[in-house]
Formats: sequence, C-alpha cells, structure tokens
Amino acid sequence: MKALVLAGGAGTRLRPITHTSAKQLVPVANKPVLFYGLESIAAAGITDVGMIVGDSADEIREAVGDGSALGLDVTYIRQEAPLGLAHAVLIARDYLGDADFVMYLGDNFIVGGITALVDNFRAERPDAQILLTKVSDPRAFGVAELGPDGRVRTLEEKPDVPRSDLALVGVYLFTPAVHDAVRAIRPSRRGELEITHAIQWLVDEGRDVRSTTISGYWKDTGNVTDMLEVNRSVLETVEPGCEGEVDADSEIIGRVRIDAGAKVASSRIVGPAVIGPGTLIEGSYVGPFTSVAGGCVIRDSEIEYSIVLRDSSVCGVGRVEASLIGRNVEVTPAPRHPSAHRLVLGDHSKVQISS
Ligand code: TTP
Repeated sequence: MKALVLAGGAGTRLRPITHTSAKQLVPVANKPVLFYGLESIAAAGITDVGMIVGDSADEIREAVGDGSALGLDVTYIRQEAPLGLAHAVLIARDYLGDADFVMYLGDNFIVGGITALVDNFRAERPDAQILLTKVSDPRAFGVAELGPDGRVRTLEEKPDVPRSDLALVGVYLFTPAVHDAVRAIRPSRRGELEITHAIQWLVDEGRDVRSTTISGYWKDTGNVTDMLEVNRSVLETVEPGCEGEVDADSEIIGRVRIDAGAKVASSRIVGPAVIGPGTLIEGSYVGPFTSVAGGCVIRDSEIEYSIVLRDSSVCGVGRVEASLIGRNVEVTPAPRHPSAHRLVLGDHSKVQISS
C-alpha cells in the first residue's frame, strides 16, 4: 500500500499565518501537525508516500526532506493550484500506479493513528473506505448518509440540510477503482474536483464503499480555534522533563517539557506546556495548554492557552489568551502617552484589544 498526503491548498482560514507558512507546518506541541500524520502512516507499515504540494512546496520539502528520518520514502507531486482533493488523486495517477492507498489530509489530526483501519482495509479490500465522526453542526463538512447495512448511500459536500450528523474525516482508503471516479467527475460550483463526488460516483456504480465511524477525538486544524484545541489535547500527553535551566525563583507545576537551551527565570509555568529550545521565559506566567516554540522570549508577561511560533517575543504585556502568534512576531506595550494602541499587522490579521 502507498499513502497520498495532501499538503497543498490555500489555507485561507489560517491567514495571516498561511501567507508566509504552510498550514500543515503549524506546530502542535511544538511539532508540525503534518508530522503526526506521517508518523501514523509509518506506524501502519506504509513507507511509500506521495506528497501533494502547492505554493508552499519549498517549505514542506525543507521540513520533511526525503522522509527517511521518519522511516518513509517521500516523492513530491506538484499541484499547480488547489483544484480539489479529487484533483490531487488525478495528478498522482502515475505515482500511485495500481497500488491501494490511504489518502491523508496533511492538516488533519487523528488520535490513535490509522493502523487498525489500514489493517482492516488490507484484509477486506472494499473499493473504498471512508472515516466518519458525529458532529453537532454537519453543515461545514462533507456529510454521509448510510444505508441499513452500514454501506455509504449518499455523500454531500457542506449541505444546507444535512441528511445525518456523520461528517467525513480527512482519511480515506482506496483501491485503484477511484481513478475511474476522479476522471469521470466534473468540477463543482466552487471549481474544485470534490472527493465526495468521486466517492458518490463509486456508490452510484454499485461499488463497495464502506465507512468506519470513529468516536475518538479528531480535528481538522484548518482554523485557529481547532489548532488551539488540538494543541490542548496533545499537550496533555506530552512527556514532562527539563533539559534547560530553571532558576531557584521559578516554579514549574504539572506536565511541562522544557527543551535544551531554554531558560526559565523568576517565572511560574503551569502545565501542560512546552517550552522550545533556546527560549527565555523571564518574570512571567505561562499557563496551561501553551506551546512556546524555540528562540522565543516571554518577559514580564502572562500567556495561557496559546501557541507561539519560533523566534517571537511577548514582552511587558498583560495577559495573552487563546492566541496563535506567528514567527518573528514582537508583542510589546505601547508608550504611555499618547494613550493609544500601535499596530503593525499583516493582511488578514485578527486582533482583539481589551480596553
Ligand atoms: P482544505 O482545508 O479543504 O482546503 P485549504 O487548504 O485550501 O484551506 P482553506 O479552506 O482554509 O482555504 O484542505 C485539506 C487539506 O488538503 C489541506 O492539507 C490542504 C490540502 N489540499 C491540497 O493539497 N490540494 C487541494 O487542492 C486542496 C483543496 C487541499
């Protein structure tokens, strides 16, 4: 079996972070979200990975390389524009050949991995197998309706009136039958070749399309709220430890990982939290569910339930909460007079000011 990992796309919901960085590389507990997926693929015994990349190809390549560090053999496939998930399958035809494959969306996070799912697919080989999960508002997702035998009957992309509360999760298993499907369908109203249409085509052709409903936690990390939630859940499993320095005036409580070269002075860190390599935390409070990447400075500040990307600083500000702070960002107080906020914000930034 092979894997097809989708790491292209536009990432509009994570702007402005995605103006300069691939959304699949936004870190969860200081590790790019994409790596969790790649590790699950390797754990399921798959080594051949076709990686769909778009405008952020160079950055993904730099992070993942040839995949050997993860025990994988990665081949890059360039998608000229984000023309849809089924379009990604279409352009991977030569790479995939006649192999069965798992398609994994590079910004999805599936707790518990995919090993059992892949083993089951290998044993039973239906034409396609999708993953579903119950959601409270299915209108934002691909939604499946199942027949009495549990087989997939209909699939709809973001329906106004959903026929069930079962949303598609970003992992799909296919036999080569899907190649006929992606060639047969036409672009949707939003101009994309939809994988839901390809799967519906298989159903209409009388093919065996099965589903597994998972109850474990999963998230599509496409927006900030989801990113913070995934970060929270992963931090709860982080192995605590300290490879950096913590001075006698500091207090570390709970599950906290402090990486090599990090320094904590006159500060209080309440886990779960991770502090990246070389980061300085001084005179500050770092609260639960916070990931601070490497090369950062948090000074005379309070931060909680947030993700800070590398080489950024938060100095002399009150409390920062539920925030995603990009790379090389500086957060500082404005001068006292005149009393005004001073902002230099990239396109599509979102700021909430509490005064
Ligand atoms: P989506 O989240 O559906 O799309 P997007 O990345 O364009 O994001 P947004 O809606 O915020 O603009 O994509 C799911 C995953 O698949 C994600 O990792 C990007 C990837 N993808 C491709 O590689 N090629 C594509 O044509 C599309 C649509 C997505």
